[in-house]
Amino acid sequence: MKLDPARVASARGRRAAKRRLATVAPRVKLQSVNLLFVGDIVGEPGRHALRRLLPGLCQTHQIDMVIANGENAAGGAGITVNTAGEILDAGVHIITTGDHLWDQKEVNLLLQTEPRLLRPCNYPPGTIGQGSTVWRSDSLPPVGVLNLQGRTFLAPLENPFLCARAEVARLRQMTPIIFVDMHAEATSEKIALARMLDGQVSAVVGTHTHVQTADEQIFPGGTAYLTDAGFTGPHESVLGREIEPIIQRFCTNTPQKFGVASGRILLQGALVRIDDSSGRALAITRISESLT
Ligand SMILES: [Fe+2]
Ligand SMILES: [Fe+2]
Repeated sequence: MKLDPARVASARGRRAAKRRLATVAPRVKLQSVNLLFVGDIVGEPGRHALRRLLPGLCQTHQIDMVIANGENAAGGAGITVNTAGEILDAGVHIITTGDHLWDQKEVNLLLQTEPRLLRPCNYPPGTIGQGSTVWRSDSLPPVGVLNLQGRTFLAPLENPFLCARAEVARLRQMTPIIFVDMHAEATSEKIALARMLDGQVSAVVGTHTHVQTADEQIFPGGTAYLTDAGFTGPHESVLGREIEPIIQRFCTNTPQKFGVASGRILLQGALVRIDDSSGRALAITRISESLT
């Protein structure tokens, strides 16, 4: 059979174009890092929601990396070896924490042995564990993660602002992509910290109040911000706990057992899209996904 030179050339052209697309496609993906942050995981319902909902969220939003706050993972108070393992097995890459971190004794062992678990960075020098890390993978640039805790209406730790300045400067020597979990009660403290870090980090997202705020935005320097990510667990509750004992506590000022609630389970958090060369945030979106 005689080949038509024009058709052969055009087939070669199509194959060459396919090869170009194949090589270009991964680079297009790597122009941004899609990072999902999951708000405080509360008890078994929160861990269950994570297991069930995370795979779908990762697929839908093409998530590259997942960070989750796990300070309430074990029965609503603290985190254990098993609950941390469950969270990591569900697809979380780095676990951040906060003031409830110390509620389970075995966390001391966990902090010494699990490099993917962070405690707030501004605990006094000599405290076990680490307050920041740089996560490395084959397909992405390094991602710095910094965990801080506010001091307003919380324990008087070291100054989180001064700690953040020093730690961000150190992390930026390794990567421009930096995510900060600011675990704090006061909105002013969270906003002020994020404004101070604007242009230095990719995102500052708050945790601790368990109430998702609607103020997601990108500051002028390129830092994405959300005052609170909300929480992952039962929302027919008071911050994840059964309603009645909490009311009793407020009415009588007597100790009550605060069980983890069970109704209306949501996974809450924020999705941040980050330019991988500059570290600037390109978009931030609140996530509130129902289990049912
Ligand atoms: Fe919490
Ligand atoms: Fe907290």
